[in-house]
Amino acid sequence: MNQETWSEVDHYVTDVLGLTDDVLESTQKACDDAGLPAIAVSVPQGKFLYQLARIRGARRILEIGTLGGYSTIWMARALPADGRLITLEIDKKHADVARENIARAGFSDRVDVRLGAAIEELPKLAAENQGPFDFVFIDADKPSIPDYFTWSLKMSRPGTVIVVDNVVREGAVIDSASEDPAVRGVRRLNDMLGREKRVTSTTLQTVGTKGYDGFTVILVESL
Ligand code: SAH
Ligand code: DHB
Ligand code: MG
Repeated sequence: MNQETWSEVDHYVTDVLGLTDDVLESTQKACDDAGLPAIAVSVPQGKFLYQLARIRGARRILEIGTLGGYSTIWMARALPADGRLITLEIDKKHADVARENIARAGFSDRVDVRLGAAIEELPKLAAENQGPFDFVFIDADKPSIPDYFTWSLKMSRPGTVIVVDNVVREGAVIDSASEDPAVRGVRRLNDMLGREKRVTSTTLQTVGTKGYDGFTVILVESL
């Protein structure tokens, strides 16, 4: 198996299941045209986030790491009409592109893009009593994943689902001696999860257009 096969399978399932549409394609194109890095979730991964949020019946969603709003729009589609999604982004250009994409997708009323460092915005959300969130997607800077998990847990309730992206890193996650700050961030999260009695967790390895990586899916059982 190789990258070419993984990508072709993503394209095949996208096509046969009819996973994408004009709004999602325009969002991707606007991100590319603006020169944003091509690191958004893939089409099948976006649909996976949508499915999880729907299964959860999420009415309040928190995203950490907006980029151009591609994953944001997938998750916003899972919300009821009176639902709400708050997404945090440190880069002004990314936030501007995201707001335009979110407006084109028709979600400006339900989605709040907050510009700033997530570690500064999260305590503000808590102080505003924006939680509890039903669904959280952690996808910003990887060294801060443990801090983002801690804040997400503070703004959770029993039943909240927290998904963390990029947790396998082509297998680099198994290297206990790694000096890669991203790997260290993921490993520190895993150590926390292994000890944390309030949640149950698992990690799913993934392949596809984004290479070999994975998601951690955390369920808050009690608080
Ligand atoms: N969730 C997006 C991809 C996010 S890429 C999608 O799938 O479509 C990661 C994003 O996190 C980038 O836009 C980056 O600017 C942002 N980011 C990096 N460090 C951050 C921080 N400290 N606070 C908030 N956002 C951050
Ligand atoms: C990067 C970030 C991501 O969130 C991702 O899914 C892939 C790559 C990155 O910073 O390179
Ligand atoms: Mg990611």
